[in-house]
Order: sequence, then structure tokens, then C-alpha cells
Amino acid sequence: MKMQDLRAKLDSADMLGRVMVFPAQMQDAWRIGADFARTAATLNATKFSRVVIAGMGGSAIGGDLARSFLGDSARVPIVSCRDHRLPANVAREALFIASSYSGNTAETLAAYDAAREHAAAMLAVTSGGELARRCERDHVPSCIIPAGIPPRAAIGYSLLPTLQILRAAGVASFDDSEYEEALKAARQCVSNYGPEDDRNPAGELARTLHGRTAFVYAAPALLEGVARRWSCQFNENAKTLAHFAYFPELNHNEIVGWEVGDLMKRAVILYLEDRDDHPLTRRHADVGLSLMKPFAGAIERFDAPTGGRLSRMLATMLLGDFASVYLAYLNGVDPTPVKKIDALKKEMSR
Ligand code: PA5
Repeated sequence: MKMQDLRAKLDSADMLGRVMVFPAQMQDAWRIGADFARTAATLNATKFSRVVIAGMGGSAIGGDLARSFLGDSARVPIVSCRDHRLPANVAREALFIASSYSGNTAETLAAYDAAREHAAAMLAVTSGGELARRCERDHVPSCIIPAGIPPRAAIGYSLLPTLQILRAAGVASFDDSEYEEALKAARQCVSNYGPEDDRNPAGELARTLHGRTAFVYAAPALLEGVARRWSCQFNENAKTLAHFAYFPELNHNEIVGWEVGDLMKRAVILYLEDRDDHPLTRRHADVGLSLMKPFAGAIERFDAPTGGRLSRMLATMLLGDFASVYLAYLNGVDPTPVKKIDALKKEMSR
């Protein structure tokens, strides 16, 4: 069956459409972020020794991508908090950003409360919920993003305002041209990976993965956040297990696991590489992959396209986003519902 027919049959809430409107979301998110950044600009005079971005799942990945994009150009370290517990020594003297799409995620709310005691400054990015209420109560500025989207499909709304906040707060400096170039690249991805051409590269990737488990590998330099994003999108959209890890660290442990007979023949290694990867990390990847090759079902390498860091990062992300939806179609599932996450949250709130 053609992808277009599978889309009509399975994609009841149009997840593919949500991926395809990413460029428009980027534009809206950039505008929202620019408006809110005026608030963040007052933080420029505040002293903080790190940025902590608290969030879970689809709302955490924007922080990961922001950290990846800024790399060592960020003035202070940017750390993630994905837990109920935010250690005081992490929160102290931090610029704390709570990122929750719904505003109701218990872990993020708990981290918010913990940060109140210690952080140097606080902000939130959310569509509303309890987080927005607490921010209003505590006079914490919140960047309000549009509601009604699955959090993972709102990635532009969590990433781009965060970047604008970090720039206005003096953590990072980057030029608007990075954004403009990334927008063009995103539009190109939508035309390259759209369903009109059934054999487009994202569809082909989905076919490679059908019936197999993806091991997504990258290096920390730029595509670390994207490797996690690919894996999470395969989980949530395609309802399949996937795994991510990073060179060179994985060559010190995980590599040994590629050794048991035919067990891993149903696994595909997807290696995301970028020109900013450290030369020795690239060498690690080459040697490591050659040692894993006899045991893996297949190894596919993806070179980030040309362009600036934001453009390369988002173009690589979009290939995985499209592939995850096509893989959902091949798996015969609707990409939008995440019934287990919903059931889990319901049970945890009792
Ligand atoms: O994709 C999802 O639905 C989840 O990963 C959510 O993002 C996660 O549960 C956190 O919820 P929220 O994004 O509303 O804070």
C-alpha cells in the first residue's frame, strides 16, 4: 500500500500533517520567542553560573537540542533535569527554565518548586496548566505557546523560544541568519520527505526499520539531542522500541554487546554524523562500527547536510520525524495516541 493510502487509513489525528507544518511552526515559535525574550533580556544583568532546563519527554528534548546547537559557544553550562528531584547544588545560582507543554507534568512541577528555593532566576515555557498557574502566583514570567498539539509535535515551540530566551539572557549569541537558514532547510525537508513521492528517503528509512529495532548512534558535538529525538519518535509515533547511545562512550561498553550470535540481526544501527564531530570520535565510530558490523542486521550512516549548526541539526531531526510516522504506517498503527503515557499519568495522579 502507498504511504498516502496508509495515511488516510491510519493517521486519524494527522501526525504527518503536524510534521509537515514544522516550518510554519518555526515561524510562529520564533515570533513568540522574540516577544517573550524582551522579558528575558532583564536577566542579562542577573548572575547565574548555569542554566537548568527541567522537562520530561517531548518537552525535554527542546532543551537538549538548544544545548546541542549552542555547544561550547554557551557562556555557562546548560544542564537538563528529568526528575522530580532537582538537587540544591544544581539549582543554586542557576537560570531555571521549566519546560512542560501541558504544564501538568508532575516531575517538572516538582523541579519548579525545588528551584524556587535556590535558583537565581526562573522562567517557564508552557501552553498553560498548573505550571502557568504557579508562574502567575509566583510572578515568574512564562512564555505561553499554543495549546492542542501533542508535545512531541510542538518541538519548534519548545526549542525556538528557549533559544531566544538564552540569547536575550546573555547565555548565547547567534545570528538570526542561523534561524532563517534553518527555516529554508526545513522547507526543503518537507518537500524531500513528503508522502507524494512514495520512495522518498524518509519512507525508505522506515522500510529499512520495519520489523527491526533501531540503535541510533551519534557523537556529542551536535547530534546528541537528535539521536535521542529519533529514538523517542520511533517509540511514540511508531510504537516500537529504539535505543540511542553516543560515540566514543559506547565503544567502552555497549560495543561488547554486539557479540551474541544472531540476536542482533534484527537490529539496525543508524549512525548520525556531523562535520563538527571530533576527528578522534569519528575514528572511534569508524572502528567501532566495523567491529559491530558482522553482528548487526544493517548499518546506515547519515551525514548531516551542509549549512549552519541549527540548519544541520533540524534537517537531521526532520528526517527522523518523517521516518517515524512512515514507520507507524508500516506497523499498522496510528502515530498520534500514546495510550501508555496517558494511562501512566492517570494512575500516577491518583
Ligand atoms: O510526547 C509526550 O506526550 C510525552 O513525552 C510528554 O511530552 C511528557 O509526558 C511530558 O508532558 P509535557 O510535555 O506535557 O510536560
